[in-house]
Amino acid sequence: MKRIIFTLMVACFGMAMVQTADAADKKITHEQIEEVMKKGFKAKLQNDLASNKEVLTKYANWLAAYKPPRGDAESWKKKTGAIVAAIKANDQAGLKKATNCKACHNAHKE
Ligand code: HEC
Repeated sequence: MKRIIFTLMVACFGMAMVQTADAADKKITHEQIEEVMKKGFKAKLQNDLASNKEVLTKYANWLAAYKPPRGDAESWKKKTGAIVAAIKANDQAGLKKATNCKACHNAHKE
């Protein structure tokens, strides 16, 4: 019984976290994405994950919570989710693949 209650508590906590993330969604501005693209991707921070993990994590979270001007939400979730996951896993090769500029721009940039 205790175990069930504990599981329920964890589940509720998880849902609360997801909701907080959702609420943050609307606050990600175009200016923030511009920063991600210019100070992050264009400056090639993604090519040195070990040195830039902190800022890349922040940028990836912004990206994941952003609503792109074009393309479907499912595709965006998959692409940005892969970036978040690669950073988390310290997977430099995976991050390089996940930050394919053209693939994402073709699908989601105006
Ligand atoms: C996960 C998707 C994604 C990836 C990966 C990505 N971009 Fe972008 N990029 C976008 C979107 C979406 C926009 C348009 C944002 C908007 O208009 O709100 C954009 C816009 C830009 C802009 C224009 C910013 C501005 O508004 O002035 C530049 C520059 C840019 N990206 C560079 C890059 C480079 C370089 C890479 C690869 C190293 C890259 N991006 C990878 C999604 C991505």
